[in-house]
Amino acid sequence: MKKIVAFIGSPRKKGNTSTIVEEIARGAKEAGAEVKVYYLNDMTIKPCQSCFYCRQVENCATKDDMQSVYADIKDAGAIVIGSPIYMAQVTAQTKLLLDRLFPIIDANFKPRFGVKKTVLVYSQGQGEDEAFRGYLEYNANVLKLLGLDIVDTIMCTGANDPQTAAKNESLMAKAFKTGKELVE
Ligand SMILES: Cc1cc2nc3c(=O)[nH]c(=O)nc-3n(C[C@H](O)[C@H](O)[C@H](O)COP(=O)(O)O)c2cc1C
Repeated sequence: MKKIVAFIGSPRKKGNTSTIVEEIARGAKEAGAEVKVYYLNDMTIKPCQSCFYCRQVENCATKDDMQSVYADIKDAGAIVIGSPIYMAQVTAQTKLLLDRLFPIIDANFKPRFGVKKTVLVYSQGQGEDEAFRGYLEYNANVLKLLGLDIVDTIMCTGANDPQTAAKNESLMAKAFKTGKELVE
């Protein structure tokens, strides 16, 4: 069975990011995947300590909730990372995750656990789709360096109301389909 690991970088458990990521998870489960969803705000994730241990060893010297994340990513076929836009960037919870993903690539930037199909999910207050295009492109390029093959990006705009995504039928349908396609 294919395994998918999903991350939600919003503190709102019933917000737009979680609604979309959970719908992707629902689609993936329907297609037969095992899906593990991590709510980053509930986790103990220390900032990277820059010890460079992971340049030599296939793990992180900091023993916290990231240890189970590495184990899950190791045998996952695909990854989903969702974050609201805060101050024109991903949230602090999401940035902690991204820095701590350094161990998934070796000293030569080769993915230790293989290239992973990845879906990115963003939610923003701005109604304009293109408002953060430059930043999102830049972020996608950074994630590619981690061996994440970005196959889709789902964006929810004008979304300060936590129900915005749930009320958008076409967005929900896209999320569900994306989840199914991650498995196929
Ligand atoms: C501290 C903070 C900073 C924010 N910064 C931005 C921003 O720079 N641009 C934007 O469009 N929306 C911004 N927002 C709005 C959120 O991106 C928006 O409400 C988002 O849909 C929340 O996602 P969620 O429902 O998954 O929590 C900010 C919200 C907060 C709380």
